[in-house]
Amino acid sequence: MTCLAIKSGGAAALPEWAAAFGALMPDLKVIGWADACAAPEQVDFVLAWEPEGAVLQRMTGLKAIISSAAGVDHITRDPQWPRDVPLYRMGDAELGPQMADYVLWASLCCLRRTWTWQNAQQRREWLPFAGNRLATDTTVGVMGLGNLGRDVARHLVGAGFRVAGWARSQHTVPGVACYAGEQGFLPFLGALDILVCLLPATPETHGILGARTFAALPRGACVINVGRGSHLMAEDLLAALDAGQVGGAVLDVFAPEPLAAESPLWSHQRVIVTPHAAAEASRPAKAAHGVTVMQAVLRGEEAPLRYRPERGY
Ligand code: NDP
Ligand code: OXD
Repeated sequence: MTCLAIKSGGAAALPEWAAAFGALMPDLKVIGWADACAAPEQVDFVLAWEPEGAVLQRMTGLKAIISSAAGVDHITRDPQWPRDVPLYRMGDAELGPQMADYVLWASLCCLRRTWTWQNAQQRREWLPFAGNRLATDTTVGVMGLGNLGRDVARHLVGAGFRVAGWARSQHTVPGVACYAGEQGFLPFLGALDILVCLLPATPETHGILGARTFAALPRGACVINVGRGSHLMAEDLLAALDAGQVGGAVLDVFAPEPLAAESPLWSHQRVIVTPHAAAEASRPAKAAHGVTVMQAVLRGEEAPLRYRPERGY
């Protein structure tokens, strides 16, 4: 019998995981992490958040690791992570639409400078404002046109925004002005009103939301970070906000998480903080992707969203 070990949501979540997988793959044995640690040789697949590399190493029959998140940095940062075992990113049917909704909401917050109303409300101040602009006059640039970035770009196009996208390789997305690579970076940034980061955490993308990038944006552009906290140089953002170069920011991811209580980002008048909540699919949706991966691997076929060590994502 094929055995799946789960480390996501703790022991309390195991019955829900077992029901979700049982409905799709009745002959699958689903076990929790404590049982997997006690008998690692029985495990064929792992679906996990922050699995210990040393434990994965002891799973001598392991056929694949499925990340319970779209980002896999929580696995690959452990030096003992077994590089010879195929690793798959999460990418279920709910993640892209949820991320697209979040980025649309954040873009509208930037468009309307929502923080101005929030701050006035705190002061009980009635603050009429006659400077509304339209989505159709606003350009949003999405860094990362991968599994999630393409959904986000399409959703923004559907909402009427002008949309640009930037990735490592050249993409074609209807309605989106696509740029690629280092040579496309500054031309991409130069026309944006709102910059969205949906990149994976790699050595190349570390600190990409920093002083150089902010300086290349038109003055007053806003920044949305839904990638990883390691993309953001918080000191650079605070300096750019205070200088008026960046008009405001909506931030969902931080390094480290949770965001430290003393961080000035919490109380900045033009920053909205959300707790890594942009997109989190349900367990049944994650199980559906997990089953797709496991069945493909068992058939000896390529499964979707495989992590490529040579690219780092
Ligand atoms: P993908 O791996 O599918 O896409 C990554 C995209 O980034 C690709 O378009 C890729 O280019 C591009 N890219 C990678 N490196 C570079 C680089 N050096 N320069 C330019 N472009 C680059 O990832 P997903 O769309 O599934 O997820 C993206 C990230 O979103 C995750 O890694 C995670 O960090 C974050 N995330 C955050 C969540 C939240 O709740 N805040 C939820 C889910 C994910 P190319 O297409 O050319 O390969
Ligand atoms: C992530 C996720 O990668 O929640 O952040 O999927």
